[in-house]
Parts: sequence; structure tokens; C-alpha cells
Amino acid sequence: MGEKKVTRIEDLPGVGPATAEKLYAAGYNTLESIAVASPMELAEVAGLGETQALKIINAAREALEMGWMTAEELLERRKEVGHITTMSKNLDNLLGGGVETQSITEFYGKFGSGKTQICHQLAVNVQLPLEKGGLDGAALYIDTENTFRPERIMAMAQAIGLDPHEALKNIYVARAYNSDHQMLLAEKAREIIEEKNIRLVVVDSLTAHFRAEYVGRGKLAERQQKLNRHIHTLQKLADAYNLAVVVTNQVMAKPDILFGDPTEPVGGHVLAHAATYRVYLRKGKGEKRIARLVDSPHLPEGEAVFAIKPEGIRDA
Ligand code: GTP
Ligand code: MG
Repeated sequence: MGEKKVTRIEDLPGVGPATAEKLYAAGYNTLESIAVASPMELAEVAGLGETQALKIINAAREALEMGWMTAEELLERRKEVGHITTMSKNLDNLLGGGVETQSITEFYGKFGSGKTQICHQLAVNVQLPLEKGGLDGAALYIDTENTFRPERIMAMAQAIGLDPHEALKNIYVARAYNSDHQMLLAEKAREIIEEKNIRLVVVDSLTAHFRAEYVGRGKLAERQQKLNRHIHTLQKLADAYNLAVVVTNQVMAKPDILFGDPTEPVGGHVLAHAATYRVYLRKGKGEKRIARLVDSPHLPEGEAVFAIKPEGIRDA
């Protein structure tokens, strides 16, 4: 009966001016960002009780008509999915047209298998127009191992006809000093994502800090729990902003295993179920690399050969 349409956070029932201000300050600028939040995080940033937070979240979902979706609506949402080219036709085909938005893609493999090179290439390629395999957007790059190289970005940009300095300006890099910092960077990413039209979030490496900090059997549960929360944050960003999330995960050879695959991704089961696409990378001869798609929900398993060339990722 004459109810006002909810379009802004301050229109939500239960959100007063002070709460709205706190939410804005914490980077919750849109109804979408509220709708995908968890009651716990919202309660924490806005100083609310969890029940109150849940009410606000539900109101935002209602305003956005989220919640139950028919299969047809789900199909509509899938139609919005975009792809970023890797610059290798083979690898793109393996991934069903490139790295997908609304999804997490995990590249895992041993050192030197090309994980960081792929991340650099995607951070450049996302800037391309749609017709050239990009999303006309910017990239957010969480660098945990200090392996981000602007010079490499410039070389890759130049090779595909982008202005190298413009390419650098469209990549927002943050160095994560430890796993807590890494998680915080992802949790606070909303504002910059909205402001800068971010369509790709890279976390290279997703697991290195967690592995270094949570050592030994006794710490395993805690590590997985934290990783799980972190991945959940990333998936929410992917959904709320229709962006691609790309993470890397180093695997180490296990010399004590004689049979079967001697490599096993760090993060184990948590990652296995959370990443939508998991791509195992291994070295071939020289610049050649082999990618294998593992456990994909709707793509056939298969392998693709690509190469790491001076100009970037290409077909071999
Ligand atoms: P870790 O992070 O150590 O687990 O390895 P990674 O999988 O991230 O490996 P990365 O992507 O750094 O790949 C390293 C390989 O890419 C090297 O072995 C080089 O062959 C190649 N590479 C790295 N930088 C360049 C470059 O500037 N030019 C060329 N042509 N190749 C490069
Ligand atoms: Mg690397």
C-alpha cells in the first residue's frame, strides 16, 4: 500500500542514518553488496545484532528479487556470463571460451608451470573490448608472493596493441603481507570494484600464506576454515559484480608417493569444491605447457597445449 520502492541502502527497513553511514564507510555501497553479505560480517561492520543484520540482508534480497530463482531466471543470469580470453585458442577452448565471470577459476601446478604468467595475461586481456575477447574492464590483483611485474604487463599489452601505460593504470595491485591481510583485501574490495569497473580479481597465490602460517596437522582445520571463508568472499564478489575470479595454487612434488599422481594441490578438499573451474598446469618442452581441466561442472575434461612466449600466453 503505497510502499516506497527500495533503491538505496538507507531505504531498507531497519537501516537508520547511522547504520547507513557505517555500511557505506565499510564499502557496502549497493543493495547487491548487502544482499550477498553474511549476517555475521554485516553485524560486525555496522555494530548490529545478527538478527537485525539478517533482516536487513533479507530486505535487500527482496528488493532485488533475489532468493529462489526459477531455472529460466537462472538461464537468464547465465546469459550475462562473460569470458576473458587467455590469448591461446587451445586454452580458451578448454575453458569453454576463456575464463568465465560469476566463477572462480583455479590454476594449479608446480613452480614455473605458468600460473603467474596466465594471471598477468588475463589482467591485460580483461581490458580488451568484448569483440576482442575482453570485458572492457579493469583488474584487481592481489599479489601474495611479490611476483607481479609491471614490465611484464607492458610487454604483454604492447604485443596486443594496447598502450602499455594505459594497461598499467587499469590494474590495481595490492601486496598481501599475510593471510589475514589477504582476506581483508578481498573483503574490502567492493568499493574499488564498483568505482573502477573491475571485471577480474586475481589472487596469486591463494594458498601460499595459508600454507606458511598454518603448519602441521593441528592447524589444518583452522587453515581450511579460513581458506573456505576467503573463497566464499571471492565467490560473492564474482556473483555480485559479474566478474571473473582467478586464483593460483602451487603444488609440490611428493617424493614419498610412488604410485598415482605425485602432486596434490594445497588446500585440498576446500578448494576442490569451491573453485568452479580447476586447471592443472604442467611443463612441457621449452616454452610449452599443458593444461588439464579437472572436475568441471559442465565442460568435458580434456587437455590443451599452450606456450609462454616473450609476448605472453599463446598457442604453441
Ligand atoms: P610459482 O609461482 O613459482 O609456483 O610458478 P608459476 O606457475 O607462477 O610460474 P610462472 O608463471 O612464473 O612461469 C614461469 C615461467 O614463465 C618461467 O619458467 C619462464 O619460462 C616463463 N616466463 C616468466 N617470465 C617470462 C618473461 O618475462 N618472458 C618470457 N618469455 N617467459 C617468461
Ligand atoms: Mg607464480
